[in-house]
Amino acid sequence: MKIGKIYTDGTYLKNNPTWDIEGSPWKAKQVIKIIRKNQLTPKTIADVGCGAGEVLNLLSREKDCFGPLLGDPRHDKMKRLDKNIKFTGYEISPQAYKLCQKIHNSRVEFKLQDILREKVHYDLILALDIIEHVEDYYGYLRRLKAKAEYKIFNIPLDISVQTVIRDNTAIAKTRKQWGHLHHFTKNIALDILRQTGYKVLDYHYGVWSLDLPPHNKKALLLKPIRHIAYALNPDLAARFLGGTSLVILAK
Ligand SMILES: C[S@@+](CC[C@H](N)C(=O)[O-])C[C@H]1O[C@@H](n2cnc3c(N)ncnc32)[C@H](O)[C@@H]1O
Repeated sequence: MKIGKIYTDGTYLKNNPTWDIEGSPWKAKQVIKIIRKNQLTPKTIADVGCGAGEVLNLLSREKDCFGPLLGDPRHDKMKRLDKNIKFTGYEISPQAYKLCQKIHNSRVEFKLQDILREKVHYDLILALDIIEHVEDYYGYLRRLKAKAEYKIFNIPLDISVQTVIRDNTAIAKTRKQWGHLHHFTKNIALDILRQTGYKVLDYHYGVWSLDLPPHNKKALLLKPIRHIAYALNPDLAARFLGGTSLVILAK
């Protein structure tokens, strides 16, 4: 089977009928958090592999969606995104692009196109849950670098003690259902960006397992332990318990 075909032949849609749009508000929040913390003022934002397009849709409505939701008063005082930002979503999947067509938002444009084939330059590129899906991610990262000044990555940290022990269910599920080809820890994720010429400016854990409703009984039971562990020592918690991604701002 040709790797990558699942995004164009309908397999990914069959396995993920909503293209996981349910996680978009959470992802958009992570993006806003790191943008505000680093006082970025982009005028153009592209989302590569934008899926159903909902993250961009939400970002363009930041004021309505995220002011109170971030929950941290320091963030609420920070500068909002410019009202005139131009948002562009890129998808290589015709099925995802079709889902994007359901979004009617004059500030967001969607393209059924691989950004690497375009002669473009943006202030900020979002690559949210993309790298782990790309066969030659080193080559992809090197070529993506020139397409924007700043990049924000969300990289799921699939490797933890807990997921390695439950390899047949945990890591195997990321491969089977979501098509992950590569698996990362925090240090590997940061290392591949440095190896491909990026300068990492900031990062935080995106602990989705605490922020989002538990998806099964095991996750529910683990939640209080995760709460304590992430409060005491986030690095150790990520290494042992997982349930997090790394949100990275790089140049
Ligand atoms: C897990 S989805 C993430 C979608 C969206 N970024 C989000 O976070 O909701 C992975 C996306 O990567 C896209 N993708 C896979 N291979 C790609 C490639 N080589 N270049 C660009 N996008 C790719 C797929 O079409 C899919 O929409």
